Amino acid sequence: MTMSLGRECIPALKEAAPAVLPSLLLCDFGNLEREVELLEEAGVAGLHLDVMDGVFVPNFTYGMTIISALRKLTDLPLDVHLMMVQPEKYIEAFRDAGADIITVHAEATKDACGLMNQIKELGVGAGIAVNPDTSVKVIEDAIPHADMALVMSVHAGFGGQSFIEPVLDKFDEIRNMPGGDDLILEIDGGINMSTIGIATERGAQLLVAGSAIFKQDDYSVAMESMMAQVKYNQ
Ligand code: DX5
Ligand code: ZN
Repeated sequence: MTMSLGRECIPALKEAAPAVLPSLLLCDFGNLEREVELLEEAGVAGLHLDVMDGVFVPNFTYGMTIISALRKLTDLPLDVHLMMVQPEKYIEAFRDAGADIITVHAEATKDACGLMNQIKELGVGAGIAVNPDTSVKVIEDAIPHADMALVMSVHAGFGGQSFIEPVLDKFDEIRNMPGGDDLILEIDGGINMSTIGIATERGAQLLVAGSAIFKQDDYSVAMESMMAQVKYNQ
């Protein structure tokens, strides 16, 4: 039986930072076991799972069944990114499926504080995400209740988009908010060899990469070339 660390994975990820998590959107879902083996060999810190409902974002991916399947394949932290409306309806089901972190979008809830506490009460790390056009002011109240803040550097919905560099200002803004020092900071979208340096320099600790890994033949080579560009000034 594989381990689900739950919220305990947060200190471990802070320790491992700066660390890359592959976004399982463009991977080969027909060979999930092999994909996970290759990603573990490549040294990823966890798996970032993009759940999309076709309503919050104009794309549809997968739900709890894929999370449960992955839970059976790996002890790596499962970092579940919910791009869905009414996430409160499904957080328990995603916890039961094996999620270690559940991130909801500030744009999808009116009660981010309550949702952070609900997720933590389920024993799962609580993340709050903001799209590029959303000011971090909207999550100021939720920050003290969250374990992680996810700054989107593309508009949620699709892999392979271009990096939106101005979002990097949000890391300092978050760090200067009450409770902002304790959070782990994650960035998601357009992370590759040429953007991972500036992203880590500006404070990103967890770096989600999709096409920069899955569009390469060798995941270990892709990881090595990205990690070689990381700025370790954390
Ligand atoms: C977009 C997802 C991202 C995306 C990253 O909505 O949340 O995780 O898949 O893919 P790349 O790295 O290709 O931008
Ligand atoms: Zn994502």
